[in-house]
Amino acid sequence: MKNEDVVQFQGYDPVYYDLTYGKNSKDLPFYTNITTDIKGKVLEVACGSGRMYLELLKVGVDIHGIDLSEEMLDALKKKAEEKNLDPKVSQADMRNFNLDDTFEMIIIPGRSFIHNVTTDDQLSTLKCCRNHLTDGGRLVMNLFYPSREVMATKYNRENIIPMDKPVEGMELVNWSGFVNEPDQVIVTKSTWKQDGKVVSEFRSELAYIYKREFELLLRLAGFSSWQVYGGFEYQPLESINQEMVWIVNK
Ligand SMILES: C[S@@+](CC[C@H](N)C(=O)[O-])C[C@H]1O[C@@H](n2cnc3c(N)ncnc32)[C@H](O)[C@@H]1O
Repeated sequence: MKNEDVVQFQGYDPVYYDLTYGKNSKDLPFYTNITTDIKGKVLEVACGSGRMYLELLKVGVDIHGIDLSEEMLDALKKKAEEKNLDPKVSQADMRNFNLDDTFEMIIIPGRSFIHNVTTDDQLSTLKCCRNHLTDGGRLVMNLFYPSREVMATKYNRENIIPMDKPVEGMELVNWSGFVNEPDQVIVTKSTWKQDGKVVSEFRSELAYIYKREFELLLRLAGFSSWQVYGGFEYQPLESINQEMVWIVNK
């Protein structure tokens, strides 16, 4: 599959993103613990509207951020201003960024890595991250495990998704399905309805990744050691219903 075949990412509406995921904090203790141990700088790749970024900044992590979406970064900056925080974020593409700096740790929470739809994009992102790590630095990220069960029961049909910050009369309907099954590309369409009327719609193509496939990508990108866990509490990865949590050493 070539890059030209991919429908480019259309961008989230930060207001609806925050209503849906704003309070999602299952991963917060993990990313807080692992980054507050760091003496130097940390970079969040695809920091979005700051769900994780602002929490880490608040507890004193020297955190920098990049994201492709100007709207998401504007929302992050607005929230930072309200909280009297001073963010260090810039607009950049994870597949091709050059910050003229290196970091002790790079984090990619929120499964953002799956926005890389082609193998070329996946590899460019990993190589870019590696180039921005200090020697001995670590890349930390989480990905969903592609579960056959979820694909069989939840794909190609509408699913109502609970919102983190429920709004009276508002409903989020999600639809996920395959765009190109051999290439593992899926599309997710999220539709927010207020009293039955569509108020926002967001569509994104994503590529899911298997454990051994990701290990090969890491090798190709020049990494040689890593640990993968089955959740944010460092559980062993034993089933397809767990989150894959990766800690990769440079
Ligand atoms: C699921 S959100 C995660 C945001 C944040 N990390 C969090 O955990 O809430 C995915 C983010 O990836 C960003 N994104 C998508 N493609 C990107 C790219 N090629 N380079 C940088 N950011 C990208 C989107 O703009 C969005 O903010």
